[in-house]
Amino acid sequence: MVNHFLDLDVVSKPDLRAMLDKAAALKSDLKAGGSNSSLSGKTLALLFEKPSTRTRVSFEVGMRQLGGDVIVLERETTQFGRGETVADTARVLSRYVDAIMIRTTAESKLLELAEHATIPVINGLTDRTHPCQLMADVMTFEEHKGPIKGKKIAWSGDGNNMAASWIHAAVQFDFELAIAAPAELSPDAEILKWAQEQGAKVSVTSDVEAAVDGADCVVTDTWVSMGDQDESSDRHNLLQAYQVDQRLMDGANKDAIFMHCLPAYRGREVTADILDGPQSVIWDEAENRLHAQKGILNWCMNGEN
Ligand code: CP
Ligand code: NVA
Repeated sequence: MVNHFLDLDVVSKPDLRAMLDKAAALKSDLKAGGSNSSLSGKTLALLFEKPSTRTRVSFEVGMRQLGGDVIVLERETTQFGRGETVADTARVLSRYVDAIMIRTTAESKLLELAEHATIPVINGLTDRTHPCQLMADVMTFEEHKGPIKGKKIAWSGDGNNMAASWIHAAVQFDFELAIAAPAELSPDAEILKWAQEQGAKVSVTSDVEAAVDGADCVVTDTWVSMGDQDESSDRHNLLQAYQVDQRLMDGANKDAIFMHCLPAYRGREVTADILDGPQSVIWDEAENRLHAQKGILNWCMNGEN
């Protein structure tokens, strides 16, 4: 069986926890000056149909730190971008490399790639979800606040791909998630339904004060995601009330942290004083992309649990 990392809801809870444990161990070894060659001789292909800074750099550096190599393939410079099918791309890459990370638009492309690849496929963001980011986010939360199980996270803003992965994470890591979003930009209904069927403590409201009340962490994301067609002032007007500012943070627990997957837009989804302030853990969160993904890469390519 191939260990694909397609989404948090299709990987078992023990495997997700094992990846985070591995990530923490690799992080402390690295900080202590240790080296690791667990992916020596392995190559990861990074296939991008959308821009990236963190995902690209953290996967590249992570592979090298584990003794492996990477090849970056961008849509514009590959046959994939000229119309070679996803299935054929999967078959060909499977003959050269040991795993593929893809950042793409429609989730169907990710699934098609995994269906036709004989090697692990990793979801590096689609229009629907962003699971690698959530692994880093859970890791970061736990470093600052202890076990996430039973804690309350508040999301304020667009019900986008990040909100969807937070819903998956709430089920898999057993925490409460209160999502404040305008009704027009509510999170993926199918994912919400799935979470409710799992008995998750996930709520959606337009009452942002109620969402942050008692929260250990407040999270937001850009108002306009890659691939969003609508960058109208209407969208900004809808989301203005969900901006994370000092007043909103004051409604959460006194020692609550602030998270954001980045890139951030100061003065839009979050004010600069919060993003750059003492409650913000965004740089740890960005760093943990590297460590969390090393846990994921080991699981995918070495089947480590
Ligand atoms: N958070 C994140 O995925 O960042 P990039 O778009 O820079 O990869
Ligand atoms: N929701 C954002 C996340 C970027 C990492 C986007 O899809 O553009």
